[in-house]
Amino acid sequence: MSAPGAPGGAGPRGAGPVLLRGGRLVDPAGGHDATADVLVRGGAVAAVGVGLEPGDAEVLDCDGLVVSPGFVDLHVHLREPGREDAETIETGSRAAALGGYTAVCPMPNTDPVADNAGVVEMVAARGREVGLVDVFPVGAVTLGQRGAELAELGTMAHSAARVDCFSDDGRPIREARLLRLALEYAQAFDAVIADHAEDPSLTDGAQMHEGEVSAILGLQGWPAAAEEMVVARDLLLAELTGGRLHLCHLSTAGSVALVRAARARGVLVTAEAAPHHFTLTDEAARSFDPVYKVNPPLRSKADIEAIRDGLADGTIDAIATDHAPHAREDKEVEWASAPPGMLGLETALALTITELVEPGYLRLDQAVERLTAGPARCRRLPGHGGPLVPGAPANLTVFDPTAAWTVAAPALASRARNTPYHGRQVRGRVVHTLLRGTFTVRDGKASW
Ligand code: DOR
Ligand code: ZN
Repeated sequence: MSAPGAPGGAGPRGAGPVLLRGGRLVDPAGGHDATADVLVRGGAVAAVGVGLEPGDAEVLDCDGLVVSPGFVDLHVHLREPGREDAETIETGSRAAALGGYTAVCPMPNTDPVADNAGVVEMVAARGREVGLVDVFPVGAVTLGQRGAELAELGTMAHSAARVDCFSDDGRPIREARLLRLALEYAQAFDAVIADHAEDPSLTDGAQMHEGEVSAILGLQGWPAAAEEMVVARDLLLAELTGGRLHLCHLSTAGSVALVRAARARGVLVTAEAAPHHFTLTDEAARSFDPVYKVNPPLRSKADIEAIRDGLADGTIDAIATDHAPHAREDKEVEWASAPPGMLGLETALALTITELVEPGYLRLDQAVERLTAGPARCRRLPGHGGPLVPGAPANLTVFDPTAAWTVAAPALASRARNTPYHGRQVRGRVVHTLLRGTFTVRDGKASW
């Protein structure tokens, strides 16, 4: 599939040759984890090796830093069209670049819904114009995400946006018959169907994870089974149809076990987990601060452990942020009225390092895989996720895995402020991000 985010956008200019010297090159798709120089020329990787001659290239000392493929986020909400007061493709692209991303996949729950060629083409074109990150829009599975009839998947697939992933995210695909049809139909253009697994008959009115904390707080609970029964259904339908299924934001131990078992019997399924589901528990709801309200909800400690294990053994292919910006007047209201969702793009790397790598759940190369090659594989995204071989587009992230910093909501590039990590001390910071050889972020600073 060709990239909608081809070069030629209105983003930062001036991609002179650069030699990234002496960094730890972690390129899981290329099987690389060792000190190496990377020479970038003409927007592409020109050479990888030890002791490369810079020639006319600018030399950047990467000693102590990690050089990896640019990060890929399978799941973001950029709110354009419709809620540009919360985020735009431009502000979301900035947040993504600062977070080390070179590719993002915005979900279709916009207004109007991205359920037709016109909207997905607009999103892709706007992404190209901004030029900070490749924007690969996700099309809706059903018209208006209403769950009643299939959207024109083929028209979106064959549009200029070349959509190869469909989802009703924000909502599940309620009707098994429609999911079956989508999984069958999508095979004609090798697309993947990404489901937000939730049975609304068990979650209507629910406010948080169902467990001891919800009982104490007197908030209506959202049982783990509401996710797991839909995960089970989806896996059965993937098996029945032979279609490619992707499961969004897994949050429970039972979901991870179901996916692990399905994988073992050869079902074509991939899965993602969001940083908040491996860093925060339902205990956070005791504050009644709606910044902690999210769908699926923050779960138990045992669930967090299972998500971490699933990421470690590869049952979960990708870390995806579910970056969900909300305008202050919508989100900063009483818990029951607040919309679910939290920011993710600018904190994902640091949370991954601080909460997965430093405590020893994942090795650094595994963590990088879940941010790069893993997500790129789920969607077969061209030019992203590595391998960093000569001729490949120079989509790169350089980060300091030990740099300590404190998350500060006012300093985020996102238009919204709903991060649950404000004030949190973390380690791991993006130093440079390059999109096709052009710095979108340099020395930790945006280059726009
Ligand atoms: O917390 C969430 N927020 N979960 C979703 O599925 C949708 C998202 C949003 O669009 O705000
Ligand atoms: Zn969702």
